[in-house]
Amino acid sequence: MKISGKGPLHGHIRVPGDKSISHRAVMFGSIADGTTRIRGFLESADCLSTINCFRSMGIEISQNEEEILIRGKGLYGLSPSKMPLDAGNSGTTTRLISGILAGQPFETLIDGDASLRSRPMKRIMDPLTLMGADIRSLSGNGCIPLHICPAKNTEIISAAMSGQILRNPLHAICYSSPVASAQVKSCVLLAGMYAADGRTTVTEPARSRDHTERMLSGFGADIRTDGNTASIAPDPHLHAQDITVPGDISSAAYFIAAALLIPGSEILIRNVGINPTRSGILEVVRAMGGDLSIVNTYDAGGEPAADLLVRSSSLSAIQIGGEIIPTLIDELPVIAVMAAFAEGTTVIRDAAELKVKESDRIAVMTENLQRMGCDAQPTEDGMIIRGGAPLHEAVIDTHLDHRIAMSFTIAAMAAKCPLEIQGAECVNISYPGFFQDLERL
Ligand code: S3P
Repeated sequence: MKISGKGPLHGHIRVPGDKSISHRAVMFGSIADGTTRIRGFLESADCLSTINCFRSMGIEISQNEEEILIRGKGLYGLSPSKMPLDAGNSGTTTRLISGILAGQPFETLIDGDASLRSRPMKRIMDPLTLMGADIRSLSGNGCIPLHICPAKNTEIISAAMSGQILRNPLHAICYSSPVASAQVKSCVLLAGMYAADGRTTVTEPARSRDHTERMLSGFGADIRTDGNTASIAPDPHLHAQDITVPGDISSAAYFIAAALLIPGSEILIRNVGINPTRSGILEVVRAMGGDLSIVNTYDAGGEPAADLLVRSSSLSAIQIGGEIIPTLIDELPVIAVMAAFAEGTTVIRDAAELKVKESDRIAVMTENLQRMGCDAQPTEDGMIIRGGAPLHEAVIDTHLDHRIAMSFTIAAMAAKCPLEIQGAECVNISYPGFFQDLERL
């Protein structure tokens, strides 16, 4: 797809629902009792992968104009899938669902596309194995396909109302995660619901997004958080919820960057989730000198949300590293684009996790910025970007990574030079209407 710059952006926009929250709403709704209603659900390829996985395990999921309805069957109500579960491109689906599957009395195979097949799963296999789960990487490389079998101690218990229930009790653990990853934390907490012997605790080196903790407690789980530690009590009774998903700050980030970088722009982005464990980009914009105001803050069912007013600004370089990284990990590609237009040298550190996202985002961002004539150098755990030089026409290889495709769309508009973006349709992973929404502004 060929993208070139047009004039300033004006008007208002609502970005689609938050991807992380949409995944969780389907998962937790499926293992709760009763019908969960989800408004503002993100209908993107990744979230549809989660829906399809739960449909394959016997959960009825329907949709009308306004909402998705999940007819949950309780903690022990899933049934074995006839086919391997297909997680598509979605790391969130794979890692979170594995925590639920580890506690099931049936075996499951999880697979996905070529990108997902290269992403590390040892980070969830290790803690699940400590909990007594039998989880293997079929290719022996710590990646999918994953085979999850019931542990040896499967037992039949009788529940008063529902007759016999098969259970596959796990062991509670206190896990110190080597990475700050909400996917790892959530996987362990979900498995902790199926533990037989007490609370399961996860401690991270820095605090990752806390949507699981917030939403699971809304469903009735006993979750406690203290600094970088979260714990859960086993065997909760989860009750169906009505969930309104706020707009995704990771999708809003592209419009924030576009409005800042294209002179004469002024836009209002409505209904954006600003959970502090996700909103690091707002701090970065402020530190770079961007004109961004948070207006009209409100609560969207346990998640803070707001409207964001953004005006074009001259940006200056900054240093980004440390505890803020997990709060803006998915926004670093578009922050790198902002850095390419900022005066001075931006340094991003402590972000080695970027190497194991949908692509190696350190390599792919710096390589594509270089193609445009920007002095962008990869480092072990981040990148160094010397901003402010004029950029030129180029062909961008997205490696089919949605965040790379959207970031370089903004780069093309800001640089006012055409970019050929290869595989641009991969935006469907998180934002199917991205190009149309941008056109409207
Ligand atoms: C996600 C957590 C992040 C993020 C991903 C979604 C989630 O991954 O990059 O896009 O929904 O929990 P990690 O927590 O593994 O860094």
